Amino acid sequence: MSTNQFTKPATAKVEDNILTIGGCKTTDLAKQYKTPLYVIDEESIRSVCREYQSAFKKYNNKNPNKKLFRPLYASKALCVGALAKIISSEGFGFDTVSMGEIYTLYKAGIDMKTVLFNGNNKTPEELELALKADIGRYSVDNFYEIELLSELTKKYNKKVDVLLRITPGIECHTHDYIKTGQIDSKFGFDLHQVDEAVEKILKNYEYMHIKGIHAHIGSQIFEDKCYYDEIEILVEEISRINKKFGLKLDEMNMGGGLGVKYVKTDKPPAIEEIGNGIISKLEECIEKYGIEPPVIYIEPGRSIISTAGTTLYTIGSMKQVLNGTKYVSVDGGMADNPRPSMYQAAYEADIVTKMNDEKAEKVTIAGRFCESGDILIKDIMLPKIESGDILCVYNTGAYNYSMASNYNSVEKPAMVLVNNSQSDMIINRETLDDLISKQVIPDRLKG
Ligand code: LLP
Repeated sequence: MSTNQFTKPATAKVEDNILTIGGCKTTDLAKQYKTPLYVIDEESIRSVCREYQSAFKKYNNKNPNKKLFRPLYASKALCVGALAKIISSEGFGFDTVSMGEIYTLYKAGIDMKTVLFNGNNKTPEELELALKADIGRYSVDNFYEIELLSELTKKYNKKVDVLLRITPGIECHTHDYIKTGQIDSKFGFDLHQVDEAVEKILKNYEYMHIKGIHAHIGSQIFEDKCYYDEIEILVEEISRINKKFGLKLDEMNMGGGLGVKYVKTDKPPAIEEIGNGIISKLEECIEKYGIEPPVIYIEPGRSIISTAGTTLYTIGSMKQVLNGTKYVSVDGGMADNPRPSMYQAAYEADIVTKMNDEKAEKVTIAGRFCESGDILIKDIMLPKIESGDILCVYNTGAYNYSMASNYNSVEKPAMVLVNNSQSDMIINRETLDDLISKQVIPDRLKG
């Protein structure tokens, strides 16, 4: 089984009825670091990275002189220096969408040549920072950006390699797959705008080198067919642009999106299976459209980091509605995991000290934030719960901390990395002073 098909971290075990992750007792972690606590399992990250590398190994063999498969981790899923170190050591580069992500990677000592900058409204300030940091690729999204990047590359006398972000007319989410000639999207050039974009980039050929094209068709994808349709469109487009403009584009970024198993009914495909399917489709299209095997970038975020993450909470108050729901409240909620309230996302959970106990009670896990919508899990069967129990919610590595807020002026939780029975703090818990550190009281209001 692939790591993205587990509901729990790869190293999750039960010892004496207690959940351990990375060889660490979750009860010890909760005691030492307090809750809420994000726990990240290093082994899960490494194993999923290795699965991607091995699934695409045979594509690399097509040209021993050039690394044809270049995986990038989509930093937006969770951008933390310590984790970037791990992911980079597994041969991944990085997809970034902001100056903050680029800065985090730079400060962590990541090779900036492995960084791609993506996004539909990169600011001049962000592009300047990216130019100074000498990042590897820009995914140029729109005409405004072509102009801006042209100006800035001249100003700083920097040559850059770019991909053209296109909207391929495919949108694929877990249960929803649309393929039309035209998708209403804020990202990238529509197919009918591509030639004009290429012409504009070619005008600034001294500074901007177009290397290939880029697309991203969705997130939490379970269906392999949409990737195959995407490949057909991208390869056809590369071949067409090359012929029309006499170019040799040889890079293709397929975006991210592979799904994970949040709950038992989720059925994401295995990484090896999707890798094999992608390679076969590529081979077919390379032949059909007569191009050299292009460099392939993929940029998974969720499938790299989601399963590695588990959040620990302490259970506090409980409320039984007469003949209705039993609410069990935890010390976190929508500020550390906004996904249930934003997307009605579903999660699995356990009481970490009652792992083998009978699941006898149906409860609703409520967050501590002042909104009725702050419900982490609706109607879950759990063992008999007492205040003080530690609840773990699985699969919280992706888009939890990265979308966390300080709603209700609550400090963001800490994050620890676990591996081989060792735990290391990788993000300190925010303090009350952190919360107010950016606030200013004007002199005239003092006293
Ligand atoms: N590349 C591009 C251009 C993207 O826009 C994204 C995600 C990815 C890669 C990574 O996709 P992934 O492999 O993680 O699915 N906040 C939402 C997810 C938003 C995804 C946005 N783009 C959530 O919590 O489900």
